[in-house]
Amino acid sequence: MRPTPWAPRFPAVGSLLHLRFSRSDFLLKTSRVLGDVYWLDLGADRVLVVGHPDDAARVLENQDVYPDKGGNTGFRRISVPFLGGGLSTWNATDPEWRRRRSAFSRLFRTAKPAEFGLDGLTRLTDGQLRPAIERTIVFDLVTKLLGKQCKGAEIAVVIGLLRQLAGTFWSTKVPGPHPFVGTKTKRATAALESIVQGWLEDSPDDSPIKRYVGELSDAQVRDEVLSQLLSVGTLAVPAEWALQLLAANPHVQATLRSSRAGSHDDYLTWVVWEVLRHCPSTYWIQRRAARDDELSGASVRTGDRVTIHVPRVHTHPDFWRDPDRFRPERFGEGLDWKRAWMPFGRGARLCIGQKYSVDVIKSIVARVVANYVIGEKPGRAAALVTGFSLVPRPTPSLDFTPI
Ligand code: HEM
Repeated sequence: MRPTPWAPRFPAVGSLLHLRFSRSDFLLKTSRVLGDVYWLDLGADRVLVVGHPDDAARVLENQDVYPDKGGNTGFRRISVPFLGGGLSTWNATDPEWRRRRSAFSRLFRTAKPAEFGLDGLTRLTDGQLRPAIERTIVFDLVTKLLGKQCKGAEIAVVIGLLRQLAGTFWSTKVPGPHPFVGTKTKRATAALESIVQGWLEDSPDDSPIKRYVGELSDAQVRDEVLSQLLSVGTLAVPAEWALQLLAANPHVQATLRSSRAGSHDDYLTWVVWEVLRHCPSTYWIQRRAARDDELSGASVRTGDRVTIHVPRVHTHPDFWRDPDRFRPERFGEGLDWKRAWMPFGRGARLCIGQKYSVDVIKSIVARVVANYVIGEKPGRAAALVTGFSLVPRPTPSLDFTPI
């Protein structure tokens, strides 16, 4: 068995500087050199990164060997101490996780997005598009789940606080002094908790959240709402990137526009699946091994952390032809794509917001394409880089010309 390679790293901080400051997806670049499996040095810890679709499926579908997310790391580290924790942080072997998952899945099955009103689109300057999408999603989620229409100013505050928490989480990954981070994070969390608590108090008794998750305590429901609001950024990124990809691929945009005129819904769905293949914003799905295993020739020991690197799965040369091209038609060509497409994870912990998220992106894309021609402003090309989720850097610079 050949030794498993290590990703490029420095003494003491390992690959953290690369991850934090790379101008592209560092893990994707690494997998193109090292292949489907390699170790990533995280300074104090190490993680085995896997990118072959079969290994990814094995890890996510095998609850006996990979039952949980790896203890007090990653998402759990910011959400439990500050937000009190939510569904995504529980160990899947815990009966409490099963109870919450079933309550919230019921709730999300009913949550269809409203028609998105992106009417001020032509007036947005660079950098304002994603916050505009985030505002619409928060407004829609709160209206749907809590049966309450919240004020625009409150939504803007919530988005600012969520961004601050996600940014703090990411920037403190690199070891070093992080003055006042603890205090600032606690303040942001307290402010968020108090807004969500106010929303819950005003939420009518027949609102979905009270009907479906009534068996949870107020504090538990508040924690859940908060940790699910953290997913808003995860959804806004591919929604924005969808418009960027359509601008960069005018022929796809034109096909989509004419297919909509004939109400051909399949093409719109393929566009959104292809967007999520290119931009799986949750690019890193983590598990810890409860038993010894082997993945693509690398030996995994009990206790090792294993991470699925979704962008590698989504561009794997064994499964995808021309993986870097934006080609929605591929989904209509009889390909066994479900084996290598997992933006929402797979298995027991599949994202409960999957259907809602695909519907939101479809709704935004359909509405914008029906009303505007999307073009790229000349200048800087944006790329997806690793952050709390995958994020475009620099922010896409788009032009919207009314039709
Ligand atoms: C495009 C948008 C989204 C993407 C790419 C995404 C991705 C994911 C992925 C990959 C997982 C599985 C994590 C794992 O197995 O460890 C997950 C879980 C989860 N997602 Fe999403 N998500 C999105 C939107 C949302 C939205 C809008 C919500 C709710 C408002 C949401 C709520 C959740 C929850 C609660 C879990 C945890 C489920 C569990 O552990 O049982 N997600 N998501």
